[in-house]
Amino acid sequence: MKSVEEVLSGYFGRGDLIAALEAIQKEFGYLSSDHMRVVEQKLGVPLVDIHGVATFYSAFRLTPAGRHKIKLCMGTACHVKGSNTLKTYLEEKLKIKEGQVTEDGRFSLEYVNCIGACAKAPAMMIDGQVFGQLNQKKIEEVLEGFE
Ligand code: FES
Repeated sequence: MKSVEEVLSGYFGRGDLIAALEAIQKEFGYLSSDHMRVVEQKLGVPLVDIHGVATFYSAFRLTPAGRHKIKLCMGTACHVKGSNTLKTYLEEKLKIKEGQVTEDGRFSLEYVNCIGACAKAPAMMIDGQVFGQLNQKKIEEVLEGFE
């Protein structure tokens, strides 16, 4: 794994801020306060502005993600097929809400609009793998496959 300084080697000023934060998140999975302090020094952008950008865009994470990233689809096709019920089920089963990580660090949960699997609605994605025609039992079986 690279150091933050190495990740930031090609970024120089305020105009590079979003690209620099994206590069850090890609390398480390999230943006910590320490990462942001290095960005402040390297790009010369005040910490308050960096924090503002990092919290404004939902694509940025300020805490580490779980080992496995669940993306439950809440798009129209999945909504019609009951994704709301699955959302409630997942939140109760994992004891987390969107953007949070389970206590054991195993899963993080996110809601997305469409994962391109509408024909298999309701669907979710874990670490890029699609699971469709979900119901509570199937979700339970799928989750068991992830350590
Ligand atoms: S709406 Fe859920 S996969 Fe398209």
